[in-house]
Amino acid sequence: MDPYKHRPSSAYNSPYCTTNQGAPVWNNTSSLTLGNRGPVLLEDYHLIEKLSVFTRERIPERVVHARGASAKGFFEVTHDVSHLTCADFLRSPGVQTPLIVRFSTVIHERGSPETLRDPRGFAVKFYTREGNFDIVGNNIPVFFTRDAIQFPDVIRALKPNPKTHIQEPWRYLDYLSHLPESCLTFLFWFDDWGIPSDYRHMEGFGVHTFKLLTQNGKDTYCKFHWKPTCGQKFLLDEQAVIVGGTNHSHATKDLQDAIASGNYPEWKLYIQTMNPADEDKLDFDPLDTTKIWPEDLFPLQPVGRMVLNKNIDNFFNENEMLAFNPGAIVPGIYYTNDKMFQTRTFAYGDTQRHRLGPNYLQLPVNAPKCSHHNNHHDGFMNFLHRDEEVDYFPSRFDPVRNAERVPIPRDVIHGRREKVCIPKENNFSQAGDLFRSWPRDRQDRFIKRFADAASDPKVTHEIKSVWLSYWSQCDRSLGQRLASRLGMKSLL
Ligand code: HEM
Repeated sequence: MDPYKHRPSSAYNSPYCTTNQGAPVWNNTSSLTLGNRGPVLLEDYHLIEKLSVFTRERIPERVVHARGASAKGFFEVTHDVSHLTCADFLRSPGVQTPLIVRFSTVIHERGSPETLRDPRGFAVKFYTREGNFDIVGNNIPVFFTRDAIQFPDVIRALKPNPKTHIQEPWRYLDYLSHLPESCLTFLFWFDDWGIPSDYRHMEGFGVHTFKLLTQNGKDTYCKFHWKPTCGQKFLLDEQAVIVGGTNHSHATKDLQDAIASGNYPEWKLYIQTMNPADEDKLDFDPLDTTKIWPEDLFPLQPVGRMVLNKNIDNFFNENEMLAFNPGAIVPGIYYTNDKMFQTRTFAYGDTQRHRLGPNYLQLPVNAPKCSHHNNHHDGFMNFLHRDEEVDYFPSRFDPVRNAERVPIPRDVIHGRREKVCIPKENNFSQAGDLFRSWPRDRQDRFIKRFADAASDPKVTHEIKSVWLSYWSQCDRSLGQRLASRLGMKSLL
């Protein structure tokens, strides 16, 4: 027997129970005791190992997006975009790339109902030949803030009250009343859009502005959109109560059942593009995460399709330990100066080193599927087999070299150090446009939901007045109708 050939997977097939050390367990139902009524002996190695593995079974849940479902599939290019990007996985129509997707809710715990009013995460990991590319987006095209320094505050205000552990409207209405730029996201959240019927019937958005780069460095701003081929569907509040009361995991089940029955969920990927030279010509900042790019000015261009055709085999390995990172890009795609995007490139790896450990990228679900090599090694739970003697770079004993140069943006950046808001805030006009695009009954539902939240007794007159001012600036009739619903004087 060559002991070094044995790897956990190949050895995990004993016909009888063993300890994790491999010794036979001859009784897995009774503890070792002195006499048949006890006391229990500490020398029962198997008992102690079994309990101590069990009591460590949970890892910290994600600080946000704790509740989610994942599935595997592929991406196929359907339209040529090689004039915009040298990304290898987008090189020509017909090219397929394996991927894994995780859909999630944002605010509540790992076991919370999937019918809650909340943005949904829509995260896709492409295992490309040039490394993993993650689009870590949401089902809402915009976000509450444009600066990551406010992200912990947004999340805390939306999460349960630290004293009562109950989500309370006065807390988020208070906090967001300081953030007029949150109006557009708030509209999506309190619209019918805020409770998707399940994960298959929701759109996905990269939210940030990315850069596409050609080999010679020509850059194009780009936004990513996923559209489900089976259309978008929402649950109205009363329906959500029934669905959630019947099965609090209805969306996970729907996804699993659809895939198991061969009804594979499919999304088309579109991009919107903009010449960076035009960015100052707009009345909003195109790198602002609180803004959409209007589709009449920046039409959707088809790129490919994503098909989910395989359920995960193990929830812990392929969902709990799955780790997305907006910093994971491939040659031909780059970040922009979008402040949120920049900070997210740091925050995810940071939390995952805490949540999963420093070697989380060795886990099969997170590891790239292409060959990879560097000298980042060892640390807790390292299981990469290395027998090289050179672990520094460069070395005359190791032929490894730098890869071919990949394009990076060529724009010149200069400026003074500042801690300020962006100059072009334009907080209300897109929210007004969205509200006016809804039919009357949909507008009424938004007004009712907002008025219900504002009826929390801890929402002060001052907070209501601030909101009334914001909504009135978005749309005059929204302000008037809300004022009459709240029994307040209209501001306009
Ligand atoms: C700078 C602001 C943000 C910070 C600091 C932040 C932080 C985090 C953290 C710590 C996690 C948990 C990751 C893990 O434990 O694996 C997470 C998950 C996630 N975030 Fe963010 N986030 C930010 C903004 C956003 C925005 C704007 C979006 C949408 C575009 C977003 C979408 C997601 C998604 C989809 C997940 C779940 C990924 C999964 O399924 O594992 N986040 N975020």
